[in-house]
Amino acid sequence: MNPELQLLISQEEIAQTVDGLARAINQDYRDQPLILVGILKGAFVFLADLMRQLQVPVQRVELIRLSSYGTRTRSSGTVQVLLDLPPQLLRHQPVLLVEDIVDTGLSTAKALQMLQQQQPASLRLCALLDKPARRQVPVHIDYLGCTVPDQFIVGYGIDWKEQYRHLPAIYTVQQLEADA
Ligand code: PRP
Ligand code: MN
Ligand code: MG
Repeated sequence: MNPELQLLISQEEIAQTVDGLARAINQDYRDQPLILVGILKGAFVFLADLMRQLQVPVQRVELIRLSSYGTRTRSSGTVQVLLDLPPQLLRHQPVLLVEDIVDTGLSTAKALQMLQQQQPASLRLCALLDKPARRQVPVHIDYLGCTVPDQFIVGYGIDWKEQYRHLPAIYTVQQLEADA
């Protein structure tokens, strides 16, 4: 049975949040050519909206794919790398990692570690959502959109069992099966 969804962040609020993040990034990077790295699948909607608000020279957009939840609603505790970057791509370049949500922090910490190995000139993290209640590893978020409560979140790229990524707003899931 599908769970009930309750609106948490409206389309308008998301747009304002993305706008504010883009402004801060534009100010900080100015004329620096920037490489954006999004984490599939969850970040693809946020990345698409954010990058179109950027006025900095975006030199390249790359995507990696990580998975820690699979079809479950709790982190498995291990992060699988399903798509990696070509080698040497980030060397000596300013890099911005773009993620939809930082929950336990395991996915973002893994991604930051992968990217750092390529020795970028600088590496920062932009996350639309932060759920600090579930954090297992510390993650510094340089550009943060909104803090969310300790509830399962869907929409705007984020899934529940692969569903609801297409929803234009962000919702909390009210009833979850005991599948974790
Ligand atoms: C979700 C979400 C983040 C990550 C956050 O991805 O999109 O990437 O979990 O959780 P964490 O901080 O506990 O690691 P998921 O593993 O579900 O893959 P998906 O993006 O393909 O849905
Ligand atoms: Mn994800
Ligand atoms: Mg997921």
